[in-house]
Amino acid sequence: MTSIEIREKFLNFFKAKGHTVIPSASLIPENDPSVLFTTAGMHPLVPFLLGEKHPGGQRLVNVQKCIRTGDIDEVGDSFHHTFFEMLGNWSLGDYFKKEAIEWSYEFLTSSEWLGLDKNRLAISVFAGDEDAPLDQEAYDAWVDSGIPKERIAKLPKKNNWWGMETGPCGPDSEMFYWVGPSASSGQVPEKFDDSDSLWVEIWNDVFMQFNKGNDNKLTPLAKPNVDTGMGLERTLAVVNGLDDNYRTELFWPIIQKIEELSGKKYGESEIVTRSMRIIADHLRAAVFIIGDERGIAPSNVGQGYVLRRLLRRAIRHGNLLGIKENFTTKLASVVIDNFELVYTEFNASWKRVVSELEKEEKKFRKTLEQGLREFSKLKAVTGKDAFNLYQTYGFPIEMSQELAKESDLVVNEEEFKNEFQKHQDLSRTASAGMFKGGLADASTETVRLHTAAHLMLEALRRVLGDHIQQKGSNITAERLRFDFSHGEKVTPEQIAEVEKIVNEQIQKKLPVHFEELPLEEARAVGATGVFEHKYGDKVKVYFIGNSDNYYSKEICGGPHVSNTNELGQFKIIKEESVSAGVRRIKAVVL
Ligand code: ALA
Repeated sequence: MTSIEIREKFLNFFKAKGHTVIPSASLIPENDPSVLFTTAGMHPLVPFLLGEKHPGGQRLVNVQKCIRTGDIDEVGDSFHHTFFEMLGNWSLGDYFKKEAIEWSYEFLTSSEWLGLDKNRLAISVFAGDEDAPLDQEAYDAWVDSGIPKERIAKLPKKNNWWGMETGPCGPDSEMFYWVGPSASSGQVPEKFDDSDSLWVEIWNDVFMQFNKGNDNKLTPLAKPNVDTGMGLERTLAVVNGLDDNYRTELFWPIIQKIEELSGKKYGESEIVTRSMRIIADHLRAAVFIIGDERGIAPSNVGQGYVLRRLLRRAIRHGNLLGIKENFTTKLASVVIDNFELVYTEFNASWKRVVSELEKEEKKFRKTLEQGLREFSKLKAVTGKDAFNLYQTYGFPIEMSQELAKESDLVVNEEEFKNEFQKHQDLSRTASAGMFKGGLADASTETVRLHTAAHLMLEALRRVLGDHIQQKGSNITAERLRFDFSHGEKVTPEQIAEVEKIVNEQIQKKLPVHFEELPLEEARAVGATGVFEHKYGDKVKVYFIGNSDNYYSKEICGGPHVSNTNELGQFKIIKEESVSAGVRRIKAVVL
């Protein structure tokens, strides 16, 4: 079975069960400061899982591009990845455990769909604790499907509870598939053992019953939801009887190209295999990050720094394999060839992908060899050494740590951080971003800033002209960052004018509400925003102002405050250029 068939089968199966197909959201979350990248299909749906109405209705399905860097050190084995595609279906306060489980079972085992062997399936459900009881309903639903009781494990929160740092969460039920010796020879263990890696997790049904606040408290949701996630890479491997995701068509062409460039063979040694997997994984992730509809470039902060780390690590492993010439763009072509039919954003972005890779590889290769020579002289890696490798040779700290590990050394990380902070006047949030994967605290502040962004966009249009289009937005609890199309610097006078207009709207105490409108109607009422088929036919339009004279009408998913008087004083703190024809404003509400 091909990856295209699996994606189509998944969407068609759930379409037949009344779900609306929605497109993959961007890898770069908009207006969500809690994570750097979209980490799961549910991530862009958080407002809807918390009760907002989704234009696509109460049943949704999609294939979502995801990046998770938490397991980056595990990449190199047969199944961990930084970029992956997640097949997911959702009930927004509609069906619950019984249907979700019945459909999961049907999709996995029916010969019309994946046709997996039901005798090789095992299940885990939540065992219960002080937050929530044993998930008897899920347990019973699996028994009713015909799964033997010995194959259903009751496990604690560590295994069977899902949520992000904050937001919707709840008990989950995971599905595992036996990839050991074949069922026909009678060798599938009767009892499920979650510590046996031959039971591979393939799908997770999350039953979202709570919202976890910033204080870690769980509040029951008015209406419970279902959120499921199935990793495409692993599923494709399992369905085709492969025990290595890199041997599926999602990776194999990239591996073959690396073989060609290095003159080495995948599988010839553990070291070679690991390097090839790291290169294939990281390059694929980098291509998707740069080529995203809100794509970004390598840099020293936030998402750009994660991207830089992925690329530099891939380049270092290319060097280990003895690849002498620049290779990242050659691999990028293979990745794009492999995915452009499904991810059409590459039509518009492949040139940018190639040029960013070229720049980054050229830059890093200049210092890589020299840095490696410096490193080889070290007997111990002090914080100063690590900082020097970072500052002079562009080695991310993780790279020095990896190099150290390979020579049985360790890097003094505390010392490195001190050194780093001494040299850079880093703000608290920026250093949290560097060292903790960029977790910031989400709060009502972000909602206020989100509404401020709408007020500002309209003010920019009034002051600078109708050509102003939003190019990107990123909001943390502290500030709003907003990119827009404009060919020249915004003058201090214009900035003052924009601030004045926004503050007037705040003082006028304007109501904010939204309506769900068919795309055509949204256009007809003069709403601005992205007129793509984002969520199918209907879109949400946020109106700010009184109905006789709206100040702003924007297509947007929300959430927003309900009245502009919740905002406080609006202030622009910075205006700068980000790229040709794109300006960036940072602003706060006091
Ligand atoms: N959101 C759930 C997960 O990522 C489905 O596993």
